[in-house]
Amino acid sequence: MTSAGSFYITTPIYYPSDLPHIGHGYTSVAVDTLARWHRQAGDDTWMLTGTDEHGQKMLRAAAANSVTPQQWVDKLVTESWFPLLRTLDVANDDFIRTTQERHEHNVQVFFQALYDRGYIYAGEYEALYCVGCEEFKPESEIVDGTGPFEGLKVCAIHSKPLELLQEKNYFFKLSEFGDRLLELYKTQPDFVRPESARNEVVSFVKQGLKDLSISRSTFDWGIKVPWDQSHVIYVWVDALLNYITAIGYGSDEETFARRWPAYHVVGKDILRFHAVIWPALLMAAGLEVPRGVFAHGWLLVGGEKMSKSKLTGIAPTEITDVFGSDAYRFYFLSAIPFGHDGSFSWEDLSARYQAELANGFGNLASRTTAMIERYFEGIVPAPGEDTDRDVAVQRTVADAAAAADAAVERFRIDEAIAAIWTIVDELNAYITDNEPWALAKDDAQRERLGTVLYTAAEGLRALAVLLSPVMPIATEKLWVALGAAESLGRLVDQPIRDAGRWGILKPGTSVNGLAPLFPRVEQPA
Ligand code: MSP
Repeated sequence: MTSAGSFYITTPIYYPSDLPHIGHGYTSVAVDTLARWHRQAGDDTWMLTGTDEHGQKMLRAAAANSVTPQQWVDKLVTESWFPLLRTLDVANDDFIRTTQERHEHNVQVFFQALYDRGYIYAGEYEALYCVGCEEFKPESEIVDGTGPFEGLKVCAIHSKPLELLQEKNYFFKLSEFGDRLLELYKTQPDFVRPESARNEVVSFVKQGLKDLSISRSTFDWGIKVPWDQSHVIYVWVDALLNYITAIGYGSDEETFARRWPAYHVVGKDILRFHAVIWPALLMAAGLEVPRGVFAHGWLLVGGEKMSKSKLTGIAPTEITDVFGSDAYRFYFLSAIPFGHDGSFSWEDLSARYQAELANGFGNLASRTTAMIERYFEGIVPAPGEDTDRDVAVQRTVADAAAAADAAVERFRIDEAIAAIWTIVDELNAYITDNEPWALAKDDAQRERLGTVLYTAAEGLRALAVLLSPVMPIATEKLWVALGAAESLGRLVDQPIRDAGRWGILKPGTSVNGLAPLFPRVEQPA
């Protein structure tokens, strides 16, 4: 069985001990938008997200709160992580927790398979470990501490002291996979994207790979090594395996064959795990490597990577409570070139909300539907003869739809939205130039008025379809207001790759009143 035609996409699984902030939300809405797009294109789509619940970080946080690690993660997942998906309107197909039986059991199956194939051996280890990263740190990421940590070695990412660990560990023979990985990056140039991420990974692997410690014996909050109960599997290996245990690895081979391989979208901080260690583990097990890994940038607040531990964390609800989830999704996905870092500021968010959503798209939708109600008693008019200007609008729509689909193929959601926005700008200019309110005063222009309003409404039909993966709530309202729900069926069923075809909205359907899609907001203090 082949997996051609399937589109399986994942977010990283989140550490539940951090409360969700807008950086986590960013990864999730990006993946959700890509999944919604493919689903609407008719691809056999599956979106997975979840939580990474083992490891020392979780164990310590639970102890600090005087509960068992299981109680700790159960509470956080139910109180914070499930609700995040609703807050941001994420339509994931599955949610995996690494403490679930379906995961734990099949991680052991995989681990045993690696052992049986000769890729695991026992050895002694001594190195500096960062509990924040859950990683033994390479030289290049160890820096001298400052302030309270003066004189200590700290993690370059967390600025917290590293711990010297010395134990007997099981090792994975990562060092044997350098050549095969380099070959993979060469023959599949899109395996790591964007280009900057690919270059980083290639030069990292070219420096030579060391074997990887993949078990721990000084604590037990993890999945036991199947042949040695005194060890738990290294939390990153446990975590990476979620991508296959969730789709039936070890238990449902048919589903596994249908879904795998996946596209992984990750923050650039966890690129190496996904683009180096993960494909090597899969190669060792004799499984296919992922289709690709896309690394997005960081959200910066005040010039620094936003993080809870540095007290720059902003909860997604702070934004959605004021602006709504569509605006959250639109803002982060359009304002930041996907793959680059982006600075968040309330001023920028408010300005774009007002200019692009309220005045641009929202106003276009309100005035078009209002004019159809006023001049045609709420019935979408039939178009008459097209002028060059009308044809130009039709071409803009066709070009934008094609460009957006091509951009989504490259994971460039920002470019897709920019392409779609040419329709918003073109239609607003079209209405201003054609002055339907003036045409309405002249009976001889009745047919022209019908053409202009049909063109605007049909353009809005295309916008609703193309923007629904990005802004599911507002586009649904628009869809209903255009009367399209009755004549064309559900918005999510509209084939997105046909969205640029002209003349789909049927004349004669009833337009319903439309409340402002993006109402004026009270500026947060
Ligand atoms: N549990 C691991 C991932 C295991 S995947 C097999 C992990 N979890 S995390 O909760 O720390 O991070 C999850 C995702 O959130 C990562 O993609 C990370 O890049 C992203 N972000 C965390 N802070 C971020 C920003 N400030 N900006 C953008 N994304 C950031 O790592």
